[in-house]
Amino acid sequence: MSQKTFYIESYGCQMNVSDSEIVGSILSERGFRLAQEAEQADLILLNTCAIRDNAEQKIRYRLRELKQLKKQKNTIIGVLGCMAERLKNQLLEEEQLVDIVAGPDAYRSLPELVEDAEDGKKAVNVILSKEETYADISPVRLNSNGVTAFVTIMRGCDNMCSFCVVPFTRGRERSRNPYSILKEVEDLLKQGYKEVTLLGQNVDSYYWNGDGAKKDLLKKGQDRNAVNFAKLLKMVAEVDPQLRIRFSTSHPKDMTDEVLEVMAQYSNICKYIHLPVQSGSNPVLERMNRGYTAEWYLSRIDAIRRYMPDCAISTDIIAGFCGETEADHQETLNLMKTVKFDFAYMFMYSERPKTLAERKYKDDVPEEVKKNRLNEIIALQQQHSAEKVQQQVGKIHEVLIEGDSRKSSEMWMGRNSQNVVVVFPKKHHQKGEYVKVVATQCTSTTLIGESVE
Ligand code: SAH
Ligand code: SF4
Ligand code: F3S
Repeated sequence: MSQKTFYIESYGCQMNVSDSEIVGSILSERGFRLAQEAEQADLILLNTCAIRDNAEQKIRYRLRELKQLKKQKNTIIGVLGCMAERLKNQLLEEEQLVDIVAGPDAYRSLPELVEDAEDGKKAVNVILSKEETYADISPVRLNSNGVTAFVTIMRGCDNMCSFCVVPFTRGRERSRNPYSILKEVEDLLKQGYKEVTLLGQNVDSYYWNGDGAKKDLLKKGQDRNAVNFAKLLKMVAEVDPQLRIRFSTSHPKDMTDEVLEVMAQYSNICKYIHLPVQSGSNPVLERMNRGYTAEWYLSRIDAIRRYMPDCAISTDIIAGFCGETEADHQETLNLMKTVKFDFAYMFMYSERPKTLAERKYKDDVPEEVKKNRLNEIIALQQQHSAEKVQQQVGKIHEVLIEGDSRKSSEMWMGRNSQNVVVVFPKKHHQKGEYVKVVATQCTSTTLIGESVE
């Protein structure tokens, strides 16, 4: 029989992009070949997101599109990731064409699930694990530019923010063996990669003390052999000064000065922190169960700026969470004005089944009000983002070239340390090279410039 082919689409966050590369590796090991297009594949996998209702609607729409293909070719369709974990068997019943449902900790069993599906059996594995980190699996890089790569350092989340479905879809928090992380980073370097982004839902709670992340047993820092996030960052930064390091996501309640110190100390750790605030109002933050106040958040911003005056900061904001008043909303706008974020991801609150907020609070802000508040937040952020980019014009930036600019094959596209996209004429430069670029103009989000010797 000829070799079977698979095609995988990733939705949601960077962790899903990274997980798809683990899935790719597991399937390749078992003889599957990657197909370039869905139409050619014997197996189509959707790695899904459940964070907001519209994320799930998008998947349902895509499944409907795939119906035709299935009819023609009898393609096997698998739903992976967070939506699979949330809906479990229900997904097979609701979406008749789905053959396989596999949660984030079940990817090692995918080859067997495919066999079951081929035999016409129901193929579901949504068992969550307390240990699985896929530490030994070297991900195959999908849709890679060959320059930047994601490296997952931990899985799951224990924070239980009241609005969030992730603890239910990804299970308990666990950290990956740091030496397996280093090995993956070294392998990437050998293959010519120049930048890694370390991924976790809350990287600041990364913790490893030898035979598993048993941080309940030991007070943080008490064990001298333990590796926390600051130490891990240091270890990765020391792999090679030519390798850039990014990470995401930082949590305001857990981000330590030790991490900031390490960032300031190593020039190859990018000066960019994604620090989701969610709201500027203390009663809302309390109901969100975020574990900090607006004052605490602002003190973390001060600390970042103390250690790294040039550090870019981005955030996530939710508009219209349960019980949010107009005054609460104004507090969010005020906090934004105080911080002036370089960038933000902004959302309307979407109630998620099983979460603490769904059980405890009423989703009582009318849709229209949510929308208006979100629009105000977006408008303010656009001003701030434009201002921040404008301030970078006239300066020289160290840019790592990632590939062609989207608009012109005569131009390179790369990012500076602060994660701002910089576009400039190619000249003799090559992909994967660090280039000094003077920014001469900008759009609302992008710097345009020219390389300088
Ligand atoms: N671990 C990260 C966030 C992961 S989810 C953190 O703690 O910050 C990414 C973002 O989606 C969140 O920061 C939040 O702003 C948003 N989000 C999560 N659940 C949501 C919901 N139910 N409705 C709207 N936005 C939500
Ligand atoms: Fe969700 Fe909170 Fe965990 Fe982030 S820290 S993934 S928002 S529960
Ligand atoms: Fe979505 Fe799951 Fe990421 S819910 S945001 S894909 S962790």
